Amino acid sequence: MLQSWLNRCKHLLAICVPVVLTLMLGACHSGHYPQDHEQLSEDERIVIRFSHVVGEETPKGLAARRFAELVKQRTSGYVEVQVFSNSYLYKDGEEIDALLQGDVQMIAPAISKLSELVPEWQVIDLPFAFNETEEVLDYVFSPVGQELLARLEKKGIKTLDVWDNGFKQLTNSQRPIQKPEDAAGLRFRIMPSEVLDRQFRQLGAQAEVYAFNEVFQLLEHEQIDGQENTLSNIVSRNLHYLQNYITISNHGYLGYFVIINQEFWDGLPEEVQEVIQTTMDEVTEWQLQLAQELNAQHLEEIEACQCIHVTYLDEEEREQWFQRLQPVYQFYAEKYGHQYVDSLPRFKDADE
Ligand code: LMR
Repeated sequence: MLQSWLNRCKHLLAICVPVVLTLMLGACHSGHYPQDHEQLSEDERIVIRFSHVVGEETPKGLAARRFAELVKQRTSGYVEVQVFSNSYLYKDGEEIDALLQGDVQMIAPAISKLSELVPEWQVIDLPFAFNETEEVLDYVFSPVGQELLARLEKKGIKTLDVWDNGFKQLTNSQRPIQKPEDAAGLRFRIMPSEVLDRQFRQLGAQAEVYAFNEVFQLLEHEQIDGQENTLSNIVSRNLHYLQNYITISNHGYLGYFVIINQEFWDGLPEEVQEVIQTTMDEVTEWQLQLAQELNAQHLEEIEACQCIHVTYLDEEEREQWFQRLQPVYQFYAEKYGHQYVDSLPRFKDADE
């Protein structure tokens, strides 16, 4: 994976990918993979079940499909990635167990959800900690990030790459939220993360953990007032039609670790591991671009739909929110260690 990070250098990627793919294709034709997958029975193929909880047209859904198609093509169908979207197989709270038990081989949960296994990963949930995706990637591949990834590996999980979904926005049914105190008294759905819980409590609001596939109904039946999510998750679920107000707060990051069961991975032939990792690195480059394009496109849709009132935070307001949420940072640092907070870009840059 570290290698995949180096591939972020576009020039290097432009040279490496075609070369590696040519080699891989060469391998296919020189007999490493059977030539025609139609001839193979299910038992003769390698089947990878890849489960996720969002729609097909989201950055994660589209990337999972592209990955499956490319792997199939590059192995002449010898490796088949079966993608199950929309919580069809497993929902939040189930998919990590399913991966660990080998019921599915790949998932791509939000990093917040992996804090169930390595709670320190809640560092990514700290509000206003990052300004752009690049900063998150730098953090993940920094020494502290590598240390936390190694902890996931000890739990039987290999991380193949990081997929992006951008920054979360706040929606609610009650009032425009411009200042931190505007959120007071409201009930929000959150992903399972103590940091997210503290974030809302610090604003005087309530936070309740629910699976992603429950959010539409919860809002429809007014069991909660609001939620925080990326524009692609909001628009793909039509949540903006159920809410009256959205704040373009970009207050928290939502990305995914694309992970595979370590034991399953270790059992794969080396050349299959290579196709999977190379293809994943290539799809990841494409996915990062796609996530940003889709979020920009969805913002235009939201601004044009006249179905929801849009509030924006300027830099000064973002700083006020950040100051107000300082106790969440203190909570995290005391519970999990100052080193994870000190390595965040805004503190690290201040030290340098
Ligand atoms: C959520 O639960 O809101 C998100 O993690 C869903 C997803 O996978 O993007």
